[in-house]
Amino acid sequence: MVDDAAAATGRRGRFIAFEGPDGCGKSTQARRLAQDLDAVLTREPGGTEVGAQLRAILLDPATTGLGPRAEALLMAADRAQHVHEVVEPALASGRHVVTDRFAGSSIAYQGYGRGLDPSEVRRLSEWATGGVWPDLVVLLDLAPDIASARLGSGPDRFEEEDRAFHGRVADGFRAQAAAEPDRWVVVDGSGSVAEVAEAVRAAVADRLQLRT
Ligand code: TYD
Repeated sequence: MVDDAAAATGRRGRFIAFEGPDGCGKSTQARRLAQDLDAVLTREPGGTEVGAQLRAILLDPATTGLGPRAEALLMAADRAQHVHEVVEPALASGRHVVTDRFAGSSIAYQGYGRGLDPSEVRRLSEWATGGVWPDLVVLLDLAPDIASARLGSGPDRFEEEDRAFHGRVADGFRAQAAAEPDRWVVVDGSGSVAEVAEAVRAAVADRLQLRT
């Protein structure tokens, strides 16, 4: 939907990304915040039709032997299409956008998790998005063991990785939050859905002056 008034005044929407380990509850929180802000809710990988096909390849445990660089490039391709087709048009029209995962996941999973250089993975995302970067990143922080205990059956290609991998991913998220404290906010993901939602609401009001 194009908001003509926003387009006319040049008022862009705000872009909020949720990040965190598998099972941290970010999908629930992203959905809730998007509803409260009347924002476009989207996700990665798989926020577009092409992305859904990439997601199927990336998450299917039957995809064996995929190298870290190919994995990073497929994630970046998904992100490029996502920004081109969904994120940028919505922001330009004045809508807020809430995404369930963005570049922070590539840096944590393909960088820290798979062992690629995190700053190279970051530059790849920068190129893929043409520099569209979230105004706020909410990291739902949760110990990997607690997060993995929350997962349902049928682990995907990432969920089936071992504890050491998920430990590196968690470290990767925390390192990004520490390096960019103005953009990232860390929320303890171990509380109830309502408690976490309240902490997210407070962070969004404080950092972006957006009231829900
Ligand atoms: P997600 O949609 O959060 O999984 P689920 O539907 O099971 O909650 O994310 C899918 C997986 O993709 C997740 O394990 C993290 C991984 N991922 C990356 O490795 N790199 C990326 O850049 C993104 C966006 C996701």
